[in-house]
Amino acid sequence: MISAKTCFLAPSAARVYDFLLGGKDHYAVDREVAQQFLAVAPDAGRAALANRAFVRRAVRHLVADAGIRQFIDLGAGLPARGNVHEIAHSFDPGARVVYVDNDPMVVAHSRALLADDATTTAVHADVVRLEEIVGDPEVHRFIDFDEPVGILLFAVLHHVRDEDDPAGVTATLRRALPSGSHLALSHFHNPAQADPEVASQAETSEKLLSDALGTGRWRSRAEILDLLAGFDVLQPGVVPLADWRPDPADPSPSLDLMHHQFLGAVARKP
Ligand SMILES: C[S@@+](CC[C@H](N)C(=O)[O-])C[C@H]1O[C@@H](n2cnc3c(N)ncnc32)[C@H](O)[C@@H]1O
Repeated sequence: MISAKTCFLAPSAARVYDFLLGGKDHYAVDREVAQQFLAVAPDAGRAALANRAFVRRAVRHLVADAGIRQFIDLGAGLPARGNVHEIAHSFDPGARVVYVDNDPMVVAHSRALLADDATTTAVHADVVRLEEIVGDPEVHRFIDFDEPVGILLFAVLHHVRDEDDPAGVTATLRRALPSGSHLALSHFHNPAQADPEVASQAETSEKLLSDALGTGRWRSRAEILDLLAGFDVLQPGVVPLADWRPDPADPSPSLDLMHHQFLGAVARKP
């Protein structure tokens, strides 16, 4: 539980998600939003866990198979089981990770965790103002923009509003990075007419999170594909999280209606 000395009145995406994951860094306002979400989508907690399992498989692929040695984790969230630097370091202890989040409390927690780690840092910035990230001297201490970079956008672009142009964010990143860089993302999805029952739950959840947090978009498949324009999407494509290269040794929780509402993909800049 967070110290009572700091008092946040508004719920935050990071702490609602932490509650859904079974973490301990949340307030009553966050738990209330999470409980409302669970009332609409009873498998939302398992969906959060499926997202963390996808993070582990995707990062493992990027380090072990694609040879990526440096990562920028955008919308990194509160430290959770299997942090990106821990996964990366299990394959390459020299891999460098920059955690970025626009929530100052998240950055403070990350900095506390990383105090003794010379390969990893945490930066307070907003993903919609990428120039501040790419121009930050602290980021340049860890990331060589002439070498392939792994950009991680797990469960964050659905917190970027349409008017803030999430596809513009990924397009800017693509232009800024050298060939061989990779982008991994997970994103809430609304299948619309293809599955009216799932779409109905997606719409109710979207309204709930948008009202409570100010953000939360369940995008169409076409909108999610737009985020990956100009990248080569690796097999098996943009798929439900559990279907992205499943690992029997690290199984994804099985989901009900959330299965088709949370998609993931890994892509490479050609
Ligand atoms: C649901 S959590 C995901 C955490 C982690 N990436 C994961 O998938 O396990 C979303 C995180 O994105 C952060 N976030 C939301 N909008 C952001 C923005 N515009 N710029 C940077 N971070 C943002 C939130 O503060 C939160 O920590």
